[in-house]
Amino acid sequence: MTHASRLAAALSVAGLAALAACATPPGRFGGDPGRGEKVVAEWCAACHSVRGVESDQDRAPTYEQIAQRPGRDRAYLAAFLEEDHFPMSTYRLLDDEKADVVALIVSLKK
Ligand code: HEC
Repeated sequence: MTHASRLAAALSVAGLAALAACATPPGRFGGDPGRGEKVVAEWCAACHSVRGVESDQDRAPTYEQIAQRPGRDRAYLAAFLEEDHFPMSTYRLLDDEKADVVALIVSLKK
């Protein structure tokens, strides 16, 4: 290999790696329900279960129940996650985590 061709090969590998790093992972735009599940397991599980009907009156509705409420679309849920509200303690999710949580909840709509 000549010096020039080795340099070209090295550059194209670097270029590919840079492209891969910039590429949008699948599902990123609309949020990913699977990742949303991990986020709520970490931050919200003290009060919310994901599926089924909440039996304990002291606990919050499950996301599955919330998803069936009228008007709980992406826009509503995204706005909801921007606010602080009683009795939920203040929490800060990253924007992509919010998108993932919204994707999870809308995926539970029947
Ligand atoms: C301290 C307990 C608590 C924690 C922690 C908590 N929630 Fe809640 N949340 C509630 C309660 C109680 C309600 C019920 C209010 C209602 O019936 O609308 C609620 C309602 C909701 C709703 C329904 C809003 C609506 O208008 O239908 C969503 C969505 C929600 N929570 C998301 C989350 C997410 C996401 C997290 C974690 C980042 C979280 N909650 C953490 C207690 C909690």
